[in-house]
Amino acid sequence: MTEKTPRTLLISQINNGTVIDHITAGEALNVLKILGITGSTRECLSVATNVASGHIGKKDIVKIENRELRQDEVDRIALIAPRATINIIRNYEVFEKKGVTIPPLLQGVVRCPNPGCISNTKEPIQSTFEVTKKGLQCAYCDWLITEDIANYII
Ligand code: CTP
Repeated sequence: MTEKTPRTLLISQINNGTVIDHITAGEALNVLKILGITGSTRECLSVATNVASGHIGKKDIVKIENRELRQDEVDRIALIAPRATINIIRNYEVFEKKGVTIPPLLQGVVRCPNPGCISNTKEPIQSTFEVTKKGLQCAYCDWLITEDIANYII
């Protein structure tokens, strides 16, 4: 009897667009949420979750055809996937590869979980968080976000 060898399922290479690689395992759907991609958007995309990766154990990958990301989208991705790599693909080649960094000050990026915070009232005040070692700290009410950041991303 011939032994079956497992076949590896690969996500296809893309022609033009963006590959977000080395996403923290389990965060791919939150990345899609940040990019505004839902079941009814028309992007041609591939998503892989919990793929084996040499240096970070497991990772997620998102590939989007014909779209390059804005800096504010990359900054939001950094909050949930700080080791992500953004690869811009042109004509099947990696045209540009860059990491992500969390900016020290987040304005209009994260909603304050404190319902009484002035940034949640009708005042024309943009939410502002400082990135500290302890977590994200609201500049208005000092509320500290330490987990489930994806839930608060605007
Ligand atoms: N990729 C793709 N389509 C292409 C070119 C690259 O989907 N036309 C994907 C690769 O599959 C990989 C990512 O883009 O997930 C980065 O490609 P590359 O730099 O060639 O891979 P690595 O050297 O493994 O990247 P790194 O060093 O960042 O781990």
